[in-house]
Amino acid sequence: MERKQGQDRPLVLTGIQPTAGIHLGNYLGAIRSWVALQEDRDCLFFLADMHAITVPMDARSLRDSTLGGVATCIACGIDPDRAAIFVQSQVPGHAELAWILGCHTPMGQLERMTQFKDKSTRPGASLVGAGLLYYPVLMAADILLYDADLVPVGEDQRQHLELTRDLAERFNAAHGPTLAVPDLHISQGCGRVMSLQDPTVKMSKSDGNRLATLFLTDSDDQMRRKLRSAVTDSGQEVLRRGDKPGMTNLLEIFSALACIPVEELEARYAGTSYGVFKNDLADLAIATLAPLREKFFLLRADEGYLLQVLARGREVARRRAAATLARVYERVGFLGPAKSLP
Ligand code: TYM
Repeated sequence: MERKQGQDRPLVLTGIQPTAGIHLGNYLGAIRSWVALQEDRDCLFFLADMHAITVPMDARSLRDSTLGGVATCIACGIDPDRAAIFVQSQVPGHAELAWILGCHTPMGQLERMTQFKDKSTRPGASLVGAGLLYYPVLMAADILLYDADLVPVGEDQRQHLELTRDLAERFNAAHGPTLAVPDLHISQGCGRVMSLQDPTVKMSKSDGNRLATLFLTDSDDQMRRKLRSAVTDSGQEVLRRGDKPGMTNLLEIFSALACIPVEELEARYAGTSYGVFKNDLADLAIATLAPLREKFFLLRADEGYLLQVLARGREVARRRAAATLARVYERVGFLGPAKSLP
């Protein structure tokens, strides 16, 4: 697919689920790199509230965390005057394109997706909604709706992006060149921040153990407590090694927060102890994240401003989405929006 005329800067698009607050993994693996991208590209950042309801979700918390997600993005440096920030459910094109793509997606391919397999085999899985199976199709629609050139995500989203590329190619093969096939852009450095309590699984919003996940809204005390009680390995050497997943995770977090290579940190902490390292890491995390938290609380208190930012973002997104959707509708033989009929 050729780039559309008049679109002269590469388009970056990415999203985040507004569930239970944004954590250190989201920040280091995603949001921080989005901030840099907005310098010289057109950017669309959205809150994936439709993805959030693929698991049971209380309505009031969803509304609260969606606005909280917007406030967090701005607090972390996304500039709403340069990037469009919007909410997925406010742009109906996401659901519309998802339906069409779903009709081009083999069931077996969705059943093999890791996230679906993980969640649908847990206890109580018979209650898992069909939305969870459909999740990757909606995600592909999110991306393909905008002819995105670049979709920056953490390592955990790789399989979803690969499926997106597949679906675009399959659609183009069936109907002729219609959808742009996006590039993969996995975050370098901290593409995968691991749980503080079990360094073999990624840090996640839904971890049952509250000590496992460091949220950007945590108080200084909570941050210190979580980092000091982070699971480490036997021994006391501050080294990144295959048999030291806990220390490796903490070193990578330190390295990403301080922008210092891990090797340099290993040299700096040689002959010290886990305790010394963890204390310094807690100081660093507090110094870096506390100012973001303060900005977050100020922004979150101004709901009028957040809604205004979202209204502007929604208009930009709707305009861009309409062009792709019109193309897709024509290709599949739909009559198109009523207003275009004679
Ligand atoms: P979500 O909300 O789980 O995560 C948002 C972003 O944060 C990254 N991330 C991490 N990076 C490093 N370490 C971690 N522990 C960690 N946890 C999360 C994710 O890779 C992601 O970049 N399905 C997506 C949301 C989505 C989306 C999209 C993204 C919906 N549609 C279209 C891009 C394009 C998700 O659940 O992300």
